[in-house]
Amino acid sequence: MSRKILVTSALPNANGPIHLGHMLEHIQTDIWVRFQRMRGNDVYYVCADDTHGTATMIRAEEEGLSPEALIDQMRVDHLTDFSGFGIVYDNYHTTHSEENRHFSELIYERLKARELIFTEEVEQLYDPEKELFLADRFVVGECPRCDEPDQYGDNCEKCSATYNATELKNPRSAYTGAVPELRSSEHYFFDLPQYTEFLREWTRSDAVQAEVTNKLSEWLDDGLRAWDISRDAPYFGFVIPGSQDKYFYVWMDAPIGYMASFQNYCDRTDNVSFDEFWTSTSDHEVHHFIGKDIINFHALFWPAVLRGADFRTPTRIHTHGFVTINGTKMSKSRGTFIMASDYLNHLNPEYLRYYYAAKLNGSSDDIDINLADFVQRVNSDLVGKVINIASRCAGFIVKQFDGKLANETHDESLWQEIIASSDTIADLYEIDDTSKAVREITRLADLANQYIATHEPWNLVKDQSSRNHLHLVCSQAINMYRALVIYLKPILPEVAEKSEAFLNVSPLTWADLHSPLFGHKITKFKAIMQRMEGKVVNKLVSPHGDQASTTPEQDAKQTDQTGSGQGEFINIDDFSKVALKVAKIVDAELVEGADKLLRLTVDLGDHQRNIFSGIRAAYEPQALIGKLTVVVANLAPRKMRFGVSEGMVLAAGPGGEDIFLLSPDDGATPGMDVT
Ligand code: MSP
Ligand code: ZN
Repeated sequence: MSRKILVTSALPNANGPIHLGHMLEHIQTDIWVRFQRMRGNDVYYVCADDTHGTATMIRAEEEGLSPEALIDQMRVDHLTDFSGFGIVYDNYHTTHSEENRHFSELIYERLKARELIFTEEVEQLYDPEKELFLADRFVVGECPRCDEPDQYGDNCEKCSATYNATELKNPRSAYTGAVPELRSSEHYFFDLPQYTEFLREWTRSDAVQAEVTNKLSEWLDDGLRAWDISRDAPYFGFVIPGSQDKYFYVWMDAPIGYMASFQNYCDRTDNVSFDEFWTSTSDHEVHHFIGKDIINFHALFWPAVLRGADFRTPTRIHTHGFVTINGTKMSKSRGTFIMASDYLNHLNPEYLRYYYAAKLNGSSDDIDINLADFVQRVNSDLVGKVINIASRCAGFIVKQFDGKLANETHDESLWQEIIASSDTIADLYEIDDTSKAVREITRLADLANQYIATHEPWNLVKDQSSRNHLHLVCSQAINMYRALVIYLKPILPEVAEKSEAFLNVSPLTWADLHSPLFGHKITKFKAIMQRMEGKVVNKLVSPHGDQASTTPEQDAKQTDQTGSGQGEFINIDDFSKVALKVAKIVDAELVEGADKLLRLTVDLGDHQRNIFSGIRAAYEPQALIGKLTVVVANLAPRKMRFGVSEGMVLAAGPGGEDIFLLSPDDGATPGMDVT
């Protein structure tokens, strides 16, 4: 029987862009979701942007936008980044939605009816200029213990003391620098301690990983306190029913956003009903993927709130660690705070999916991106060992056997060994230990490569009497490749899709492992994944980023042509040797036998020259006549197959069919110096 599973990733904050830390979580979740689907389970994967709170309000103000306009734009940006990495949600909603308002109010009313809500006066620092209460992180002052200046209102970075913002010496508002006043206001509390026994039990079940249970029992042993679920106006969020100007604290309505996104999906599609999953008696599964910094919200407050409001509690909280780069925390000043969009401008997203999968082991340990290791694993393990199996053997099948695979298995015991790992690998996916799964898949790929090396198809092809042997070996290699693709498909959806096209099969599922392809016709092999350029990877962490080059193709070209990263710069003296002049194109014609070239006759004011230029794909010759362009006038004449080229026309743009000659400028005359 298939399982019914609702899966979520933590809702990214709407006040900032998606970075490689977020990507770890969404890639991990997406892999798990894809795996469950391949196993035939019914999976719903929902997420949303987490929009509420002071931070959104302030950021919108800074940008001169309404909070609504800001979060709309952010949601689009976030979705673009996530889909760039192949993450596919059934629904990506927002916490600023009617569904979320509905469930937040409903849950609050249910808690209130059970007398789990009470109010109490709270003294808090208030910025009289900005007219708002200051969260601890927005008060700065001197540490009450060691006097270190410029410390935040929650703890001291120098002596690690923890304290209340009200204890800081000489406190100032981080917004305005104003001296905050102590003001008292009424807050709403959720009576969390009533759930201590329930939580003890729940956190000891297999709903959380063992190390998370330990962390939680420390908190439980310290004794739980009531949870402050309200914030005073001004605040961007939902007003608490029955109050004038009290808002739900963002962390109250954020997890409810999981339900709201699912409700929105149910309404939109009619595929499934909300109640099936969320009533207290539901036996469907709910899985949350989160980072270790938000365990308390998901494994204490959230289950208690759900329980108090008579909804079901989560089946499992999957907690991962933090991404570090070359061993240190991602940092803006070191240039290692890598945005998802920057990554996508340089590298294939499946490299990162593979690397994260190779590192994630189901624990909440931090995950280090070591750039050298990253390149090495992708190039030698993935491209070198797995993808190469197909590229080494497909040609023989296509050329020698008209694309048709043999009708039987050649080495049955090897084949059995390949598919015998099916359950082990599936179990590893289930518990998020993709690191071990990838290791096992790599071991199988090694076996497949040994098999090919032993039988040497490139020698078999030379001898007509080995024809059958060649057919059997290459067919088995292709079937082993197909098995490896099935194992890797949750991690590498694009590689899988290209492989399915090459194998000429419908989307592969786990069950397909047990039916290898016999007598089946495959198609011509096309590149499935390229090796990674080490130099391109380094650009990711340059302190200034690399906003100039924008596509992987451009990067590849650049590095291909110039070889070294730093050596490609010329200094100003080199540049001043280049004579740039405005030229008028007086004639342009096709060059026979050179389909990329045009022969241009250009006028430099006092004389004409003949220049060959590789811009045929972008321009019809006629369209160029009469236009002005810039040429390198002192380039040494070069003898080409079609004649002598006396200079170079400068063009800019992405290349291919889009090359732009600099547009003629009113003031320019032929022969004019540009430098
Ligand atoms: N909005 C809350 C989550 C609400 S869930 C009901 C939040 N947002 S966040 O944008 O700060 O983080 C979203 C997720 O990304 C969290 O699970 C967080 O742990 C994870 N990560 C943020 N930075 C990270 C790294 N550097 N490394 C790995 N995960 C990180 O928290
Ligand atoms: Zn201190």
